Amino acid sequence: MGKQIWKPGNMLYPLPAVLVSVADREGNTNLFTVAWTGTINSDPPMVSVSVRPERYSYHMIDETGEFVINLTTEALAYATDYCGVKSGRDVNKWQELKLTPIAGEHVGAPMLAESPVNLECRVTKKLMLGTHHMFLAEVLAVHADERYMDESGRFCLNDAKPLVYSHGKYYAVGKELGKFGYSVQKKGR
Ligand SMILES: Cc1cc2nc3c(=O)[nH]c(=O)nc-3n(C[C@H](O)[C@H](O)[C@H](O)COP(=O)(O)O)c2cc1C
Repeated sequence: MGKQIWKPGNMLYPLPAVLVSVADREGNTNLFTVAWTGTINSDPPMVSVSVRPERYSYHMIDETGEFVINLTTEALAYATDYCGVKSGRDVNKWQELKLTPIAGEHVGAPMLAESPVNLECRVTKKLMLGTHHMFLAEVLAVHADERYMDESGRFCLNDAKPLVYSHGKYYAVGKELGKFGYSVQKKGR
């Protein structure tokens, strides 16, 4: 069997599907789903989100230069899909989904209490790429839910069953195949 050659497209999967929370200058807030997000620098810690300008949330990020990335989990799968198909123009997603906004420390956008990790972000650059505008942002603070700390204080994110989006479907991170570096570690060490 060979491989089919397709026209150029986006087939980079799996991806995280995150909930991005935003606020405008009047204090209106919203949540929407973003899969085109990435880690782009270590020091300073930086991430990106690519957003279509027609999204209701777009103007909120654009006018404040702030947003929060809320990591999602198996328990947040329904909310993640809902926030990716419904618009804040038509519904209050926080109320519809009974989700809890809590104040951050650095940005005006609220954080999602139900998420295990919230990244407060401030935009440093906007790239107008075409269909999407990519916001490059510095991470100002990371909020990690103590529910996922073990006895020694180690954060066990994978216990929260992080959500993954792959080729049109959602999956929860499941089977561990090895720890970072396991391929070069000697047995028994
Ligand atoms: C899994 C998934 C991933 C998505 N990723 C993006 C994305 O990366 N960028 C984007 O602009 N829209 C993305 N969307 C679409 C928006 O989340 C969707 O249009 C949403 O309704 C916008 O909400 P708003 O109008 O309240 O801002 C995604 C939707 C889903 C379901």
